[in-house]
Amino acid sequence: MYARIAGTGSYLPEHILTNAALAQRVDTSDEWIASRTGIRQRHIAADTESTSDLALKAAERALLAASTAPEEVDLIIVATTTPDHVFPSTACTVQDKLGLHGFPAFDVQAVCAGFVYALTVADAMIKSGAARCAVVIGAEKLSNIIDWNDRTTCVLFGDGAGAVVLKASDEPGILASKLHADGRYRGILNAPGHLKQGQVEGSPWIYMDGGAVFKFAVRALADVANETLAAAGVDQADVDWLVPHQANLRIIESTAKHLHLSMDKVIVTVDKHGNTSAASIPLALDEGVRTGKIQRGQTVLLEGIGGGFAWGSVLFEF
Ligand code: ACO
Repeated sequence: MYARIAGTGSYLPEHILTNAALAQRVDTSDEWIASRTGIRQRHIAADTESTSDLALKAAERALLAASTAPEEVDLIIVATTTPDHVFPSTACTVQDKLGLHGFPAFDVQAVCAGFVYALTVADAMIKSGAARCAVVIGAEKLSNIIDWNDRTTCVLFGDGAGAVVLKASDEPGILASKLHADGRYRGILNAPGHLKQGQVEGSPWIYMDGGAVFKFAVRALADVANETLAAAGVDQADVDWLVPHQANLRIIESTAKHLHLSMDKVIVTVDKHGNTSAASIPLALDEGVRTGKIQRGQTVLLEGIGGGFAWGSVLFEF
């Protein structure tokens, strides 16, 4: 028994914020941002759009692509760092907005590694017989936790959502996955504020030590990708596509180099989307599928890393 991706979908808010537009707000430039990160623009959700709205649209598109009626769904997992509320979970809201009720729905919080965490949990639940048709979503409205006056972080992030429909199947699907976390590094990337007596105590905005994050990410991503390949008995040379977390083009290039993969085997969307945290991998995966790059039967490696630190990788046959 395998869990196989039956379809993918994604949604990006209409409003595009270019580097040039950002440069009118903070002391930065298109040249500075693009040369260090590869980012040219990002999408920003409207005030009226919540994370669950973005997630819903991505889920509906994935269900359509998978030719799956919503009534078949028996599990929803949403990976997000920017849920609509402390509770209920965004997954419960998405379930209701889809007009579905009764089966398990919950959120996974592993920041930029959230989608690989959620996909791994859904895979395990399908393999155990606890579910047969899961919608796994990565969705973020990071614009809510960005300090738009802090040029060191506001240029990096964007909003969006991506989703897959994962179904029980006799044909190969997910081949292996590996997850890790190390809470000792939680200080280098976080949103330190916390709720106390109904007020946020401390800064609610994203904080990042960029250099430390860069160093940690490059090593951890290559290691976990190799660990996942070894668990599946698949060689680096047999990977058709790498779909990495889209934080920074230099991290992506460095990981590809460590894995001996040329950049024409890597899906890159960071230039257009910026870093959308848990949404970035399913957004890139959907773009790879819809542009006809990723084909049925090909071997695809996902990898993501983010605050916590939490990181992981999933290998599957599409
Ligand atoms: N525009 C212009 N100048 C800037 C900007 C900006 N947007 N941001 C910072 N600077 C300035 C700094 O103030 C500093 O000036 P100073 O020398 O006068 O003090 C100078 O540029 C250099 O700053 P650094 O932080 O050293 O810049 P660096 O070259 O390290 O690039 C960056 C910063 C792009 C964040 C880099 O550290 C990086 O790529 N880190 C990886 C982190 C990442 O991608 N995080 C994404 C989220 S985490 C995740 O998803 C895993």
